[in-house]
Amino acid sequence: MKNVLKVFILVLIFGGALYAKAPYVASKSEIAQVVQEAYKKYKDDNGGKNADYIKALAEVDPKLFAIAVVDKNGNVYEAGDVKKEVSIQSISKVFTLALVMSEKGDEFVKEKIGVNATGLPFNSIIAIEQHNGSASNPFVNAGAIETTSWVEAKNSQERWSKIAANMSTFAARDLKVNEEVYKSELSDNKRNQAIAKLLEAYGRMGSDPLEATTVYTKQCSMSVSAHDLAVMSATIANHGINPVTKTQVIPAKYTPKIMAVMATAGLYDNAGGWLYTTGLPAKSGVGGGIIAIVPGEYGIAVVSPPLDVYGNSVRAQKAIAYIVEKLGLNPYAK
Ligand code: DON
Repeated sequence: MKNVLKVFILVLIFGGALYAKAPYVASKSEIAQVVQEAYKKYKDDNGGKNADYIKALAEVDPKLFAIAVVDKNGNVYEAGDVKKEVSIQSISKVFTLALVMSEKGDEFVKEKIGVNATGLPFNSIIAIEQHNGSASNPFVNAGAIETTSWVEAKNSQERWSKIAANMSTFAARDLKVNEEVYKSELSDNKRNQAIAKLLEAYGRMGSDPLEATTVYTKQCSMSVSAHDLAVMSATIANHGINPVTKTQVIPAKYTPKIMAVMATAGLYDNAGGWLYTTGLPAKSGVGGGIIAIVPGEYGIAVVSPPLDVYGNSVRAQKAIAYIVEKLGLNPYAK
């Protein structure tokens, strides 16, 4: 009898431990429902303001709002204007980083460009001076222009073609430049040119600084929808395999490195606050997009142009945080 009791107690203890460890996995219908809820909850939230230091961005409809989630199998969950396009802006930096990492390796990125936060705004010049001429990471403008300059190419045309083809492979469709945004930003990118020249003075640039700034400006003007951004981020979540085309876009060994940089610097000087709330690597753009990655599972993308003081979309942050909370997607809580 005593033995029976012992066995019973052991079963209770181990069974309980197993139950407590079983990770919660949301069903397809739950994901679809939570995406709709997030859309309804924040549809009329009008906090923030469109970026206006690039004139064309001030003219984008601030009401545009779209949420898209793509899982590792290519299943899609969406709400709102998911096919409406905005300029990708700084989110492009993730994909050009992936390209340079594939060509030159992750040590090159760490040593030459850097992988640490600046704690300063994304277009800071002081940050370069404070770090002995280092851009600090590939997501502030300095590090992104530097990253672009290191794409292996004979000339500007070839560098651009490779960057455009790479982003299109991530999106599983042929992406095009928004010419209006490109012209607007090109006529007003003296600060980025100054940053690139300063980096050249510190021996950091892989190609001519003004040429690299022009290619970088074009890469930021690429036109994408929330749907595209979700497919692009799901490719990183899925160990570099595009869930739509099933092709290996970048080596799987680099996706944890890319996510680490996203966690450190993806939302600039609010990266810590964001990680504290969601636990997810993410990247924002001043066009209003944010992508967030649930490693091994989902790419989440939200587009809504009005931004907070850090240059991150207000509604996108709220909608992603809601989805993460409701579906239990914070990896630190697993
Ligand atoms: O270089 C710039 O300022 C813009 N093309 C991109 C900045 C950006 O998206 C910062 N992100 N939140």
